[in-house]
Amino acid sequence: MPISPNVVHVLRLMSGGEYFSGEQLGALLGVSRAAVWKQLQLVDALGVSIERKRGRGYRLSRHLSLLDVEKILSFVDERTKDHVSELIVETELESTNKYLMDRCVNRDVIHGVVVTAERQTAGRGRRGREWYSPFAANVYLSIGWSFHQGVASVEGLSLAVGVAICEALAFFGLNSVELKWPNDVLVGGKKLGGVLIELAGDPAGECHVVVGLGLNVVMPTIGVDKISQPWVDMHGCGIDVDRNRLIGQLLTRLIVLLSGYEKDRFLPYRETWEHLNAYKHQHVFLVTPMQSICGLMLGVTDSGGLRLEVDGEEQVFLGGEVSLRASL
Ligand code: BTN
Repeated sequence: MPISPNVVHVLRLMSGGEYFSGEQLGALLGVSRAAVWKQLQLVDALGVSIERKRGRGYRLSRHLSLLDVEKILSFVDERTKDHVSELIVETELESTNKYLMDRCVNRDVIHGVVVTAERQTAGRGRRGREWYSPFAANVYLSIGWSFHQGVASVEGLSLAVGVAICEALAFFGLNSVELKWPNDVLVGGKKLGGVLIELAGDPAGECHVVVGLGLNVVMPTIGVDKISQPWVDMHGCGIDVDRNRLIGQLLTRLIVLLSGYEKDRFLPYRETWEHLNAYKHQHVFLVTPMQSICGLMLGVTDSGGLRLEVDGEEQVFLGGEVSLRASL
């Protein structure tokens, strides 16, 4: 069911953490107490839990900072801001990546367009998986960018994006983050975030890229059984962060990265990526739809290809439908 503007209104009123009586909320919203009760149940169903105290009323169980265009922009570096052509904040979307891909199909310009949403109803993960995207919990962010020299100019981009994410997380004190080729963001071997890059346009000329990233900030307790892999959130790592600030820091780094990528490509990010490599010098399985290869992880090439030692010889594997698992 779509989130009604009234529910968002209730959340904005209560986001400061103060108690509100049923009468107060009714008066502020211009509805009956029974209608207030219904709105509070809808808020609860979104995974935002509400406490009730006799004589005081209702309050949110945790501080809630909803996404806000002005706040996000206030955390973006001034020089970077000029490269953001539009910043769209939605209460809900099917998928922030889909939103930009649809605009591409309609031949709308997506260069520099940034989209984020409080929740995604059909968040896309890699390999056709769903990306669980509960309300006001995490970061779901997509950036549109156009390149002139075809898909070759975006080789290794998802790895470089991983590096930028790690740098933004380090800014908030989260230094234990590692990267799993090609683009999983891990803490202690569990997934903190992921990157999904989608392409449209001419593979040999003007092509459009949608860089989508999801980061677990504070997962609610409901619905997590839908996640099919071990996961972690920033809150669980001891870091509580305002999502507007986090998005501001992510954008500051990602926009700089995208602005220079066609010229610089992956090389300037390679060394840092190698430091963050979760599987360095480990035996891993590379699983493709066709085969499963066991090899020793040597690192990555200048363009972000995976270097594996297989049967004593180095082989390079490029991105695509592959996944990496530590072998026993
Ligand atoms: C992965 O499977 O690791 C990639 C997950 C990418 C999720 C993000 S959330 C924002 C953007 N919109 C989507 O639908 N997917 C990406």
